[in-house]
This record gives sequence, structure tokens and C-alpha cells, in this order.
Amino acid sequence: MRLPESQLAVLEAASATESISVDRLADNTGLKPETVTRAAFDLRDDGLVSIDETVQTSAEITAEATEYLEDGLPEVRLYRAAIDAGADTEPVQMGQLIGASGLAGPQVNIALSNFARKGYGSIDSGAVSADPDADPDTDPEHNALAGLADGETVADEDILAQLERRDLIVRSEQTVRSVTLTDDAVTALMEGIEVAETVDRLTPEMLTSGEWDDVEFTEYNVAADAPSIEGGRKHILRQTADRVKDVLVGMGFKEMEGPHADADFWINDCLFMPQDHPARTHWDRFALDVPPIQSVPEDLVERVEDAHRNGVGEDGDGYHSPWSRGFAEAIALRGHTTSLSMRYLSGYAGADIEPPKRYFSVEKVYRNDTLDPTHLLEFFQIEGWVMAEDLSVRDLMGTFEEFYAQFGITDIQFKPHYNPYTEPSFELFGTHPTTGELVEIGNSGMFRAEVLEPLGIECDVMAWGLALERLLMLMYGFEDIRDVHGTLCDLELLRETEVLY
Ligand code: PHE
Repeated sequence: MRLPESQLAVLEAASATESISVDRLADNTGLKPETVTRAAFDLRDDGLVSIDETVQTSAEITAEATEYLEDGLPEVRLYRAAIDAGADTEPVQMGQLIGASGLAGPQVNIALSNFARKGYGSIDSGAVSADPDADPDTDPEHNALAGLADGETVADEDILAQLERRDLIVRSEQTVRSVTLTDDAVTALMEGIEVAETVDRLTPEMLTSGEWDDVEFTEYNVAADAPSIEGGRKHILRQTADRVKDVLVGMGFKEMEGPHADADFWINDCLFMPQDHPARTHWDRFALDVPPIQSVPEDLVERVEDAHRNGVGEDGDGYHSPWSRGFAEAIALRGHTTSLSMRYLSGYAGADIEPPKRYFSVEKVYRNDTLDPTHLLEFFQIEGWVMAEDLSVRDLMGTFEEFYAQFGITDIQFKPHYNPYTEPSFELFGTHPTTGELVEIGNSGMFRAEVLEPLGIECDVMAWGLALERLLMLMYGFEDIRDVHGTLCDLELLRETEVLY
């Protein structure tokens, strides 16, 4: 029998013991682990060895954990400071303990959130009571970290999971392979195996000399481990935005563009949002300290003001509330991209506005909301409108069904809603694929005459604003929008999620 040199070396090294790991084979033969792995797979294909695979997890401590190993875990430092201050007999104000413990910045919150959980005591209205019986020297999390730092393995899954949640360890999985000789291999070794010359690379010299015809090439092993290469890639939100754009273009829509910071005139006044209405601040707009907008079309401003004061049509009625031009001209970050729809529908954006027309944008909007799993201070809105004669709510619903079906979402639900600028109005809901909860995904309606008449539009316009991030939640099933955005984002999820086209 003839075998390539590396295979023969592995076979001989493996014949010394019953079963031997790839790493030990690498040590014993002086070959690289990947060479040993490849040789082992080739030997297995020839029936000379069997390979047993087990997955081992290992944990490495992070830089933050290394710091805590020196200085103590924040909750332990808080406990020691609390004991020193006598908090085991009488509660002590947190403020006093912060200085004494030397905790700073985010460590204060880390200490607070772990102190009670780990039984070091309790915190009530800022006053800390320490449990005299707690023993920081036996802190299981500290001891686990210390063990890991010394190269020991920690078996307690609860502790490991907790440390991982605290970003104090990073866990990874490795496949450990061990090799066992078959009877055929034992026989072959006894009969003697010769070394076969093999080459793993074709060179220009081999081609010109004709040598390529005589040599034996090593085989590719597509199952061998290779380092994973994580190159840069487009964020899944951007990828999905691109896909949304393709879908809408496919449905006959054209794209709108326009400023992120805009006059309230375009953001609110054109939409018949009364200037003194709480709705005008219900997004807690981000006002900008910049000079007001320079150019708004004079006649349009007059018509919009008139609609606000007197309404439209014969028996129209306005808001009977103040309307100030200065207020309309002030600049803010747009809270919706309906400002773009107003710019386009008014003809101000330059596009011809004869019906029928369909326009969309997939752009950022800004709201001074409270950050939570479903709200961000800025997000992408999928804005769109269709201008045509005789549109009805059925057209609106049909358009959404067609749109969402392209993303595999076929259970859209509609709920009557109120917007000052549309009548009727509908909120859209989808079902979260993992929690089964209804998720609000958009808002829509038919623009009112009070909006359309000042713009000079005589036919129907149906319109909507949908949240791109919510569409992503329905498509990929994540539950917290912050998994895809910002400092808490889940890199693994971002790397692994494939946006399907
Ligand atoms: N501007 C609305 C929002 O941000 C969406 C919308 C646009 C509703 C157009 C109706 C018509 O929620």
C-alpha cells in the first residue's frame, strides 16, 4: 500500500494508542492540526481509520472580567463598602457608598443590579442594607472567573450563562475529533506502507515540464475546518430596505427624496394638523435651533392657512384656532416622511402630478420616543401614496396584502384609526412569528379634502407610513428592535441573517 507522507505519519502516530485526538496527533507528528485533520479524513475515506466527533464548549473571560478579577466584582465592592459603613446594622445611603467603594460610571448600575440578586443585601429607596451573613470570598461568579482565568473548566451551566449575560465571558464551540485505527489499517501497517509523493499545488513549472502528468494530487476535503472569515457586509436593515424598494418599484412606484430636517409646514401644516393640537407635539418633535425655511410656495401657504382657519368646501369648517406662519416655517427633524408626500403631491418637488401616480420612500424619521423593545428614536418609514380617480379602502387593503405577501406575511389585520389628515384611517397589524403577539406595523388612510384641496388635487389619494424595523421583526422573528440597531445589537444575528431575494 502507498500513502501520502502525512497520512502515513498520522496512521503511525495513531497506532500507538487506542484513540487519539487531532491535537495530540499534531503534537506527535509535528504536522499542523489542519493537515492532520485532512489526512484523517482521507484515511477514513479509505477505510483505514474511524473519526469520532464531539463538540466541546469553552469559555474565555473578557477584558471587563479581567479588571474585576483585580478590583473585585462591582457588587462585591459595594458589599465590602457597605459592611465598612455599618450597613449590616443600619441602612446606608447609596450616595455615601459610591465614593467609598470606588465604583464609577456604569459600574454603579452593575453593582446595583447584582447586589440583591446575589443575596448581598437589599436596596430600598436608595438606602443599602447589607446581609451580615453573606460571604464575598465564596462569590461563585468571582470564583468561576478566577478558575477560567487559570485555565480550569467550569461545569456549572447556570453560572456560565449568568457570566455570559453579564458579558464577562465569551463562549465558543469546538469540534474535537479523535482518530481510531481500523483492522485494515493494523494489517496494512504490519505489511508495510510506502510513501506516495503527492503535491497539493499545481505550479507553472509543472505545467511546462509535463511533470503534472506523473504526480498524484492531494484531494480536497470540503469537510475540513477552516477559519471563518467575517468580512464587512451590508446591514440587514439596509438590505431589507433595498428589497422593499425593489418590491415597490415592481409594483409601479417611483421613489421620492427630500430633507431630513424640514419646515413644520411640510411636516404638519400641509397635513391639516392644527398648530395648537396636542397631536402636533405627540411625537415630541426634535426642534432644531436653525433659521426658518426660506422658500415655501406663497400661494400654497395661503391655501393651507385658509383650510386651517375656514376649512374647505361649502360647509367646511376650520379649527378656529391660531395659525402662525412663523410656527409653520420653523425647522425640525421630520417625525414622518409624509412631509415628502406633501412636497411631491403639491408639485413643489418638481414631479408632474397628473393622476394616476404612485410614489414611495424608504427613509429615516425621528421621534423623541422612549427607547424600548419596539421603539427607537429614529427608524425607517416606508412611505407611499397612490393618486387616482375613485380609490377605495379596498384598494388600500389590496395594496398592503400584495406588498406584505412578497415578504411572506399573509395575515395582515386592519384596525380603524384616527389621523387628522386621513379619513378613513387604518392601523395595520401583523403577528409576531415567535411570540404570536400582534405587532403594529403601520398607519394609513385616504387623504381628506382639507389636505388635498390646498394642494390642488381633485382626485383620490390613499397613503401610508409603515415601519421597516417592524417588518424585519415579522420576517426574522427577533423581539427587540435594539438587536439590530445601536450598541446593544446582536452581531451574531446580524452576521447570520440572510435577506432572501
Ligand atoms: N404619517 C403617518 C405616521 O407616521 C403614516 C401615514 C401616512 C398615515 C400617510 C396616513 C397617510 O404614522
